[in-house]
Amino acid sequence: MSNIYITTPIYYVNDIPHVGHAYTSIACDALSRFFRLKGQKVFFLTGTDEHGLKIQQVTKDKNIETQDFVDQMSTNFQNLTKTLNLTNDDFIRTTSERHVRSVRDFWSRLQNNNQIYLDKYSGWYSVRDEAFYSENEIIDGKAPSGSKVEWVEESSYFFKLSEWGDKLLDFYKENPEFVKPNSRFNEVVSFVEQGLKDLSISRTSFDWGIKVPGDEKHIIYVWIDALTNYLTALDYPDIKAEKYLNYWPANYHIVGKDILRFHAIYWPALLMAANLPLPNQIIAHGWWTVEKEKMSKSMGNVIDPNEMILKYGLDQFRFFLLREVPFGNDGDFSISSLISRVNSDLANSFGNLVNRVFSMTNKNLDGLVPDAEITDKEQILIEMCDEKISDYMVFFKNVEISKALESVSDMVSNTNKYIDDMKPWSLAKEGKLDDLKIVLKASLEMVRIISILFYPVMPNSSKKILNALNISLDSDKSSFTGENQIAPLVVNQKIGELNLLFPKIDKIEG
Ligand code: MSP
Repeated sequence: MSNIYITTPIYYVNDIPHVGHAYTSIACDALSRFFRLKGQKVFFLTGTDEHGLKIQQVTKDKNIETQDFVDQMSTNFQNLTKTLNLTNDDFIRTTSERHVRSVRDFWSRLQNNNQIYLDKYSGWYSVRDEAFYSENEIIDGKAPSGSKVEWVEESSYFFKLSEWGDKLLDFYKENPEFVKPNSRFNEVVSFVEQGLKDLSISRTSFDWGIKVPGDEKHIIYVWIDALTNYLTALDYPDIKAEKYLNYWPANYHIVGKDILRFHAIYWPALLMAANLPLPNQIIAHGWWTVEKEKMSKSMGNVIDPNEMILKYGLDQFRFFLLREVPFGNDGDFSISSLISRVNSDLANSFGNLVNRVFSMTNKNLDGLVPDAEITDKEQILIEMCDEKISDYMVFFKNVEISKALESVSDMVSNTNKYIDDMKPWSLAKEGKLDDLKIVLKASLEMVRIISILFYPVMPNSSKKILNALNISLDSDKSSFTGENQIAPLVVNQKIGELNLLFPKIDKIEG
């Protein structure tokens, strides 16, 4: 089975982590856990982007040592990986020695392939976006992103991006799944169709960055520095290294829509120019607003993931972010929608299902997994469930996580409905023990499968349920159903007790 390499963007350390950063990281974590569950080897990378004029300006304003500042700010993101319960295999920092070596080597490769030349740059630069803009992109004196731009004139190295337009278009044609969602891919293609200009890839007006090999006045453009992180973590420039051989090219670069151009145009062009294989897929997600406003420090509406997790619970927060908005779309963060989502999907549906199945089994069957043969009614439930599992697998692979979660929620509703129809409480009262056993056996089985399917998004809660069912996910089984299924239930084994997993949240609290 093929190995999977998944990356988040590396986060700029000029900011403290907010819900937008948490979102990408949680999505990548869920995807990583999904593939591991399927028995595939995964390398999941995240980290921090610490160079560039933007960072240098912040520390100059604050009159502090830049290295001290980035160390401190990177720690916030490292701590967040723990708070979010991420299973990242590495955390890359662009100020680390291994990365500096890797970027300089990448540069030399481009230079050796005659892809770089020295000239003069004059044009518009946005410090906030760390991006160059052409005259026709400037709207009312601002970048298309709304950021301030400044006129820059300096000696600069250029990458011969203009030579790669046709090859990029051929590549896009041959790889129609390269960028998701499709609408964003169309934007990328039409941008390239309009013709690409060579890209300025060094600056001389500041020094917080990686120096150009052989011309140390020049600092390598922060985006070349940043993109190369994906190679560094696999021990590039050693392209015979085990990690590199096992995991390059990346399967999924997950990024926000604002940085798609860098990943879907510059990055593949740079890799082609360096004679290295291109990533399989770039997935662009949308942006979160807060109560319909853009999140910003000046508005004072920045959502701190730590605060949300303390208040509403980690799995609840992870579930809300991934379930609420179809991946790729913009979304609006509001406490009231978080509360509604958690109360309806988790407290009232999934939590209720788990609670009632556990309490009826404990009360009526001494907590033993019943030995019972299912009937046609249960067969219908199981077939529906198999269909939903197939959907789930496809959705997850396509990083349509909200749809994958919807499929699981459908299974929850169907199982709750099955229980309502079968009325096991009446069967218990009437002493119909054999019938009761069938219903609880099927229900426990559904709880088992649903918990496994929810595991990538809600690992803590799922593990609690599966532990109570005596099921360990650390098995070498790799299918969700059938012969080779992950950890089946064992008949006559005693299940544990479970505390309330998803307490209903009081609306007033929000
Ligand atoms: N350092 C670059 C990425 C280099 S990758 C080789 C960068 N960093 S960033 O910190 O500004 O943004 C990191 C990610 O966070 C981006 O994917 C961006 O889209 C995402 N988000 C930042 N704010 C966001 C929201 N409000 N909502 C959703 N995601 C957002 O760009």
